[in-house]
Amino acid sequence: MSDRKILVTSALPYANGPIHIGHLVEYIQTDIWVRFQKQRGNQCYFVCADDTHGTPIMLKADAEGITPEELIAKVEIEHLADFTDFGIVFDNYHSTHSEENKHFSALIYNRLKAAGHIHSAEISQAYDPVKEMFLPDRFIKGQCPKCKAPDQYGDSCEACGSTYSPNDLLNPVSVISGEKPVEKQSLHYFFNLADFTQMLKDWTTAGHLQPEVINKLSEWLESGLQKWDISRDAPYFGFEIPDAPGKYFYVWLDAPIGYMASFKNLCDKSGLDFDEFWAKDSDTELYHFIGKDIIYFHALFWPAMLSGADFRTPSAIFAHGFLTVNGEKMSKSRGTFIKARTYLDHLNPEYLRYYFAAKLSAGVDDIDLNFEDFAQRVNSDLVGKVVNIASRCSGFIKKRFSGTLSANCSEPQLFQEFIAANAQIADFYERREFGKAMREIMALADKANQYIDDKKPWIMAKQEGLESELHDVCSMGINLFRLLVVYLKPVIPVLASNAESFLNIDEQSWPTTVTPLLSHTINNFKPLMTRVETDKTDAVVAASKENLEKEPAPQSRKFDAIADTIEFEDFAKLDLRIAKIIKAEHVEGADKLLQLTVDIGDETRNIFAGIKSAYTPEDLEGKLTIVVANLKPRKMRFGLSEGMVLAAGPGGKDLWILSPDDGALAGMRVK
Ligand code: 2FM
Ligand code: ZN
Repeated sequence: MSDRKILVTSALPYANGPIHIGHLVEYIQTDIWVRFQKQRGNQCYFVCADDTHGTPIMLKADAEGITPEELIAKVEIEHLADFTDFGIVFDNYHSTHSEENKHFSALIYNRLKAAGHIHSAEISQAYDPVKEMFLPDRFIKGQCPKCKAPDQYGDSCEACGSTYSPNDLLNPVSVISGEKPVEKQSLHYFFNLADFTQMLKDWTTAGHLQPEVINKLSEWLESGLQKWDISRDAPYFGFEIPDAPGKYFYVWLDAPIGYMASFKNLCDKSGLDFDEFWAKDSDTELYHFIGKDIIYFHALFWPAMLSGADFRTPSAIFAHGFLTVNGEKMSKSRGTFIKARTYLDHLNPEYLRYYFAAKLSAGVDDIDLNFEDFAQRVNSDLVGKVVNIASRCSGFIKKRFSGTLSANCSEPQLFQEFIAANAQIADFYERREFGKAMREIMALADKANQYIDDKKPWIMAKQEGLESELHDVCSMGINLFRLLVVYLKPVIPVLASNAESFLNIDEQSWPTTVTPLLSHTINNFKPLMTRVETDKTDAVVAASKENLEKEPAPQSRKFDAIADTIEFEDFAKLDLRIAKIIKAEHVEGADKLLQLTVDIGDETRNIFAGIKSAYTPEDLEGKLTIVVANLKPRKMRFGLSEGMVLAAGPGGKDLWILSPDDGALAGMRVK
């Protein structure tokens, strides 16, 4: 066992939405690094949690008619299922809404306060007079003060890119109530970040950060650090600030403390020593993997908070870039905003783990997912090069040598070359140069295939007297395959573990020294990975577009979605019927759907409609509405939907089913 003791975190995902492939870049990157450390024999712990506090989560729970506690409990289960199915294994997954986090948030705050780093001041802020709450910038919309574009958020304009304060917006409205916000005074608490200017100048240049990040931070440090507003007024879902009734910690104050809280929770379960990892003089390692958009919080606020509260600071912050799909930002309408679950419904998670690994470097550049390239890369590398070696050699071993490898290592030099590569590959993994590690491993795979191509065992098999040479060559191929798999194990753990079963060997650790398998019996070969098929990647994109259709239209898109025109023949294809809603019911596990039984004249139909935000079942029973009767039935998670109810409106509560009001019309065709 090595001496290194390492604590690793990924950023905590917000508990108000699903995990998508953009998130997965980071969790897969971290998981690979952690698996590598463990395989090397280091003591490495990977902790994470759901980031549960703040206004968006409070409002989302409100919109779903549940408590924030119920919402975060439900989302945590979904997040963990997605992570688990992608092979992302945490040593602990916790919540920022936990006793441990409450304790450490209060402790850190109290220590910072005692040391004079906290002060309070009255500030004036936008307030929703109907909802009776202060409005975060993102909950105010209006016209951009600069370019006059309508429908822009309170902090920045998507049309011209300018940033401003919500006070400057023209014709502002609250996104929650639609009302014009008023200005209201309130007492806020601030963390004096500027007290840490020298500490941060030293820390940010002491080897804890990537070069690109240091440059960005030095700009911020030179332009002077601002005090940080760490409080929010009730109503707010979070922790109340000690001795400040009605004031809550801003979500970003307690989120990074969630790293500590999750680790404390692990310590309490496993007997690990919390102080050994977090005390000021700790000689353990602490790494935070994050996206480049949250560097400010992790490389300025967080080290300052830790140092001001007498804890150790991180050994390093590892920032990565964003994910683009086909060279563009992920887009719901293009079907490239892909949820983890949608991907899992169609494709093997290890394809994506390998593809991301092949693209990742230690820098902060964005990485692109292009499905053609994805299929090509996985098929050619994993299926065509790696798995192929085992399938080429195992058949002969099985049929001709009753599954037992040769007693002889016929190419000791080649075997040694494969082992010697471990140092370079390990160095790439350690430095998060995963793309380089994958290229190194694939170069070895090319060598192994070249060796087999040169020896041509399929020809030897047909000739007399070459039995023992055939045995040696195929055994050599299997031994080389075994080393390729151990190098790929952090990236594709399921394939690696299935390969270990096939090879009939124990879990492999990092092969600094290893002897070839001689006179060893292997198991039957089963295909370890099938090729990526384009109809499956197409299905992921199509299903992501469908997910969009099931969601109510976002408010901001109210007036700008003007559809392309259609031909009369297209319209004529629609079989629109007036239908009577005989029964309406809630659907267990569905937030947005109601299940309707409708009478369309000559038959009754079962239809799932995404109108729960606007109607209760009682509202609907007995009502008439218009349905598309000839829509191809669609299999949904909850059952078969046999048609579509027509509704209009921007979404949420403002959604109306189209309802002719004469009961005698049921079943009539609408033309
Ligand atoms: O940006 C985000 O998604 C945040 N929920 C990340 C928090 S990371 C840490 F500080 F908790
Ligand atoms: Zn603008």
